[in-house]
Amino acid sequence: MYTALLTTLEKNTFNITINRPDKLNALNKTVIEELSAAIDEVYKNNEIKSAIITGSGAKAFVAGADISEFLQLDATQGEELAGRGQQLVFDKIENCPKPVVAAVNGFALGGGCELALACHFIYASDNAKFGQPEINLGLIPGYGGTQRLVQLIGRNKAMELLMTGKMIDASEAMELGIVNEVCAPEKLLNKVEEILQVIHTKAPLAITKIIECVNNFDHTQQGYDFEIKKFGECFATEDMKEGASAFFEKRKANFKGK
Ligand code: COA
Repeated sequence: MYTALLTTLEKNTFNITINRPDKLNALNKTVIEELSAAIDEVYKNNEIKSAIITGSGAKAFVAGADISEFLQLDATQGEELAGRGQQLVFDKIENCPKPVVAAVNGFALGGGCELALACHFIYASDNAKFGQPEINLGLIPGYGGTQRLVQLIGRNKAMELLMTGKMIDASEAMELGIVNEVCAPEKLLNKVEEILQVIHTKAPLAITKIIECVNNFDHTQQGYDFEIKKFGECFATEDMKEGASAFFEKRKANFKGK
């Protein structure tokens, strides 16, 4: 069904591998369209409880948007490219009701770094490299990089990475708070699968509400008000009753996503 992605569904986790290793998995039009369809599958398929996004080959997660598609674009087309990508893929990943984790297995540059940032969290192999090198092309990030990076690492660190286009390694990315965990390349997918299996044992509707609340983070009272509303909604779920009952009955809760 896909030409630029490999997908598998194992233990309720949908594994999405961007598969253009000869072009370091650069995001061309086909990859964007297929990623959009794959994320739609995550939203719709009840068997899928979570997703992993990774890159094919030992060298790259994604080395950016496909630069070969840039030269012929004018300002309007450039704006369309960014808007369409954000809408079809990046926003959809960020707002996915099920956890989406990036397994960064090499270069995560430009659109690749932005793709990882759109995921709910990031695990990386120790050979991973992150960066927003668009400035070297006379460009800026267009898939949400300026917005998500500043939220994650703060204004001044983001300014420096964006203005210099420099690459940082996995341990520096971890120090900055971009990456949650770093491991050997051969262990990366297992590590991500393991943490997702833990999350699968939790109440799915509450997981969705966590994603919604965190995505609605706001310094003003609005963020707290949103949390209050979502907290209240939990009390309308069977899973909340099951969780509280299981606590008093000293047994493991069996959540059903209802
Ligand atoms: N778009 C299109 N093609 C890309 C690409 C991208 N973002 N990144 C890599 N490729 C292609 C290269 O053109 C090359 O293709 P070729 O074999 O047909 O010449 C192939 O992938 C391998 O890349 P190469 O540059 O030879 O590998 P390297 O190990 O020497 O360097 C990088 C790796 C990641 C440092 C280098 O490829 C790079 O800087 N890529 C662009 C990163 C970038 O600017 N991304 C932001 C885009 S907005």
